[in-house]
Amino acid sequence: MTATNEEILGRADANDLEAILSITNDDIGEVIHSVKDNAAAIFTWDYEKGQRPALNKLYEKAKHSQWNGETDLPWETAVDPEQVIANAPMDPENDPVLIAAQQPGEPLANWGETEWNKLKMEAQNWTLSQFMHGEQGALLCTAKIVETVPWIDAKYYASTQVMDEARHVEVFAKYLDTKLTGHYPINAHLRMLLDDIINDSRWDMTYLGMQIMVEGLALAAFGFMHMLTEEPLLKQLLRYVMSDEARHVAFGVLSLKEYYEGLSDAEMLERQEFAFEAAVRMRDRFLQQEVWERMGVDVRRMVHLQLTHETNKNDDPFQQLLFSKIVPNCKKLDLLDRNDGWLRKKFSEINVIQFEDWTNTGEEYEMLDELAKDRAAAETA
Ligand SMILES: [Fe+2]
Ligand SMILES: [Fe+2]
Repeated sequence: MTATNEEILGRADANDLEAILSITNDDIGEVIHSVKDNAAAIFTWDYEKGQRPALNKLYEKAKHSQWNGETDLPWETAVDPEQVIANAPMDPENDPVLIAAQQPGEPLANWGETEWNKLKMEAQNWTLSQFMHGEQGALLCTAKIVETVPWIDAKYYASTQVMDEARHVEVFAKYLDTKLTGHYPINAHLRMLLDDIINDSRWDMTYLGMQIMVEGLALAAFGFMHMLTEEPLLKQLLRYVMSDEARHVAFGVLSLKEYYEGLSDAEMLERQEFAFEAAVRMRDRFLQQEVWERMGVDVRRMVHLQLTHETNKNDDPFQQLLFSKIVPNCKKLDLLDRNDGWLRKKFSEINVIQFEDWTNTGEEYEMLDELAKDRAAAETA
């Protein structure tokens, strides 16, 4: 029995403006947010290392690729805010949404250089803040995987990812608080997704939500920001983080590939629905309601313009790249085509199916693991 959008998303139309705006972060002032994780911790008495050679190889690589967030980055760099926003993906002359929003009577009509620069700065702060919160989500999820996954090779590898994620939270927080102007609270859609992932009792759902969906998107987004930014400290920070993230996504693909081959159609459908839900929540968060709010413009109107122009954004390289890792990885896991192509149809509806034949991360992670490559080169020199 296929679930409806209403059951999966809580709304019949993925683009329902009121429903999207009704999801809000209602405890912004709180320091602690508590989520029930519902899972049994699993011991395994089978300690034979290397039964899953691909995971064992990742574990050995991870031990080699550790870095220190305090000492391996040039924190002495004086950060120039102009460099941080240079090439930011918000082009008032080419972005269809921003063009529409500048028409007479629309929220961004009469904007000058001051407003555009402030928008780029706020959007950058917001984006980096959501990365930081997502990194904490990854820290919690990976700690949970250490407990819940039944395979020793996966527990070993996941423990290295816990360390990686702690480092990522640390460096994003330090960058935002000491080099920029502090951080934004977590976006309501992102928080809802992280809560859903942690809430689920099934161990593979943690991987699917985090390693495949959230980290798949992060890997693509980091790559894009790394390519665009001219600020040297941020560029290096992102490069270091990406070399870890490539392993993390590969960990998801390699682990789930084996497990999903043994699942029934009904079990696969639940995974397909979860992947779709995650994709929509992540797209919702990129509506960046909080940024429009801080810019003092009509949030409802801006979100409306973004939703109505979404189909025009197929040519927007940023929108494209966001799903460029997720879709091929879902294909590799057979999530696109099981149950008569349920997820393929859904990904077509939200205009991201075009990436299905791009390289999956299970195959390309070694190429992305630049840090390990540099170190290996240094050792042989
Ligand atoms: Fe991370
Ligand atoms: Fe990660």
